Amino acid sequence: MGFFPERGAIWLDGDLLPWSDARVHVCVHGLHYGTGVFEGIRFYDTARGPALFRLGEHLQRFERSAAQYRMQLGWSEEQLAQAVRDVIESSELTEGYVRPLALYGYGNLGILPRQCPVTVAIVVYPFPMYLGADGIQNGIRVTVSPWRKTHTSSVPSTAKGCGQYLNSFLSLSDARARGFEEALLLNQEGFVAEGSGENVFYVKDGTLLTNDAPASILPGITQASVLELARLHGIPSRIQTWIRLEDVLEADEAFFTGTAAEVTPIREVDGRSIGDGTVGAVTRRLQDSFFAAARGEAHADLGWLTFLKERGGNGMDGRRVLRPRSHEAGVQSTGRT
Ligand SMILES: Cc1ncc(COP(=O)(O)O)c(C=O)c1O
Repeated sequence: MGFFPERGAIWLDGDLLPWSDARVHVCVHGLHYGTGVFEGIRFYDTARGPALFRLGEHLQRFERSAAQYRMQLGWSEEQLAQAVRDVIESSELTEGYVRPLALYGYGNLGILPRQCPVTVAIVVYPFPMYLGADGIQNGIRVTVSPWRKTHTSSVPSTAKGCGQYLNSFLSLSDARARGFEEALLLNQEGFVAEGSGENVFYVKDGTLLTNDAPASILPGITQASVLELARLHGIPSRIQTWIRLEDVLEADEAFFTGTAAEVTPIREVDGRSIGDGTVGAVTRRLQDSFFAAARGEAHADLGWLTFLKERGGNGMDGRRVLRPRSHEAGVQSTGRT
């Protein structure tokens, strides 16, 4: 099997379609200018069946990202949540990754997407540990990227905009070409920003530190979750907007967080060991705690999990075809072929 299983349904503008039928036209605006937004959500196998990790927060960020690009999704959070459930059900996967995507669609190819209705898709596929099982267990080797993080005054770092990931592509492909697993990007001010798709944490003298949006980062849902877990474990933590590279190099421990990367220890930056080069106690504790929460083994009271098998009692049939609100408003073609 390749990266995609190519079975199960893809949700496209309200319809659950067979995988191979979920297409858009080459003249879709988002393909030309990156004018789209997306999300990444994991679901984990738990004793109570598959459960989505922080679904509400991800869908809310999806809507906020869209709003930053003046895009109206045309679907409520509840409708999108239902669509996510439907696609996971059709995939028959017990663990995996959900990719909601919204693009300015087919209409014109001026810079402004006039007459381009917004196309929304939801895809589900398996996604084993992004930076590898060895990376999760023993940590990864990271390089400081020659590419600086796009400044948030140029494109808003708080949005997960499609075109913004050219910056991630350049930094990650450079890191991989030079034999490293991940890139660490500095921002335009020369301070630490984040990884190509992860937030960064470090530990110094027992205190956990990470940065925030003014450092031109995407504030992560995993980052917020780890900060919450640290609080519950009594691990002191601090948000420090301006992290110097030396702070990370001289740290006792460092790690990345993200939906894809989960909690991945950093053991080396450009050949320099972080701490003693092994996974530190604070990192391991938070990593264990994160996986326990995601797999429903602990912290159920935090309400982070949405269980697939326990519907909200709305009596809706999971396989029904939804109708977008924009249709009601009289917007026509979505540009699908
Ligand atoms: C650039 C960037 N930073 C940070 C993150 C981590 O965010 P989250 O934990 O919400 O997945 C991601 C992944 O979405 C990302 O793409």
